[in-house]
Amino acid sequence: MTETFAATAELVPGVFVRPATPDDHAALKRVCVETADSGNDATAREDNPELVGLIYAVPYQVFEPDLAFVIEENSTVSGYVLGARDTADFEARLHADWYPDLREWLRDPGPDESAWQGSDWARHMIHHPPVMALEGLAPYPAHGHIDLLPALRGRGIGRAAMEHLITALRRKRAPAMHLDVAPDNDNAIGFYRKLGFEVIDHPSVAPGRLFMGKRLD
Ligand SMILES: CC(C)(COP(=O)(O)OP(=O)(O)OC[C@H]1O[C@@H](n2cnc3c(N)ncnc32)[C@H](O)[C@@H]1OP(=O)(O)O)[C@@H](O)C(=O)NCCC(=O)NCCS
Repeated sequence: MTETFAATAELVPGVFVRPATPDDHAALKRVCVETADSGNDATAREDNPELVGLIYAVPYQVFEPDLAFVIEENSTVSGYVLGARDTADFEARLHADWYPDLREWLRDPGPDESAWQGSDWARHMIHHPPVMALEGLAPYPAHGHIDLLPALRGRGIGRAAMEHLITALRRKRAPAMHLDVAPDNDNAIGFYRKLGFEVIDHPSVAPGRLFMGKRLD
């Protein structure tokens, strides 16, 4: 398949996508927490608003820099689209090279969820990461994340940004990808369906989790 790809591009007039750099880590964390409550701002819920981005956003820039993009308007990062070529490989990198350092400075809140407060859910996840490469997701080995702050939504930017990521994944010969979606995030589910993603129904997906997949070949 021949496809031209410019890592930096104008998605819609005045809105640009470009590769994320280490200088974008603060912006990645900010956008992540401001969209972390099923698309809404979770800042007030967290006692450490950085942790959610240290799980769901920053590691993509660190371990998959060719697949980590920020979205800017007026020179301000207001969104991102992130991917991993092989979820099992990415998960192994997180276990080996990412979570151990975070655990050095974060206490484990223990298994009793009823006692968790603030960002304890994230501290627990860092100490006990859930399995990412579930058996049912194996036919869709790549995965992605997209989050846009409200000013960017509903303008065709999400579609253009996902197409940008998909082109980058195709260049790396990813045959198919999946997305981990909060089951109550109706907007995201509607958006992904419009882009051709379908719910992945498999016994390895625990109740209360929702994954959507799409072939890229
Ligand atoms: C979900 C999100 C990425 C969508 O991006 P967006 O820029 O608002 O979407 P677009 O304007 O590009 O819409 C693309 C298409 O999806 C459709 N669409 C968007 N939201 C939809 C919905 N809730 N139901 C049905 N279709 C929808 C649009 O009509 C459009 O269709 P078209 O291209 O055929 O005209 C964005 O709203 C967002 O970041 N939300 C908050 C964070 C979030 O929930 N992220 C996903 C976490 S899993």
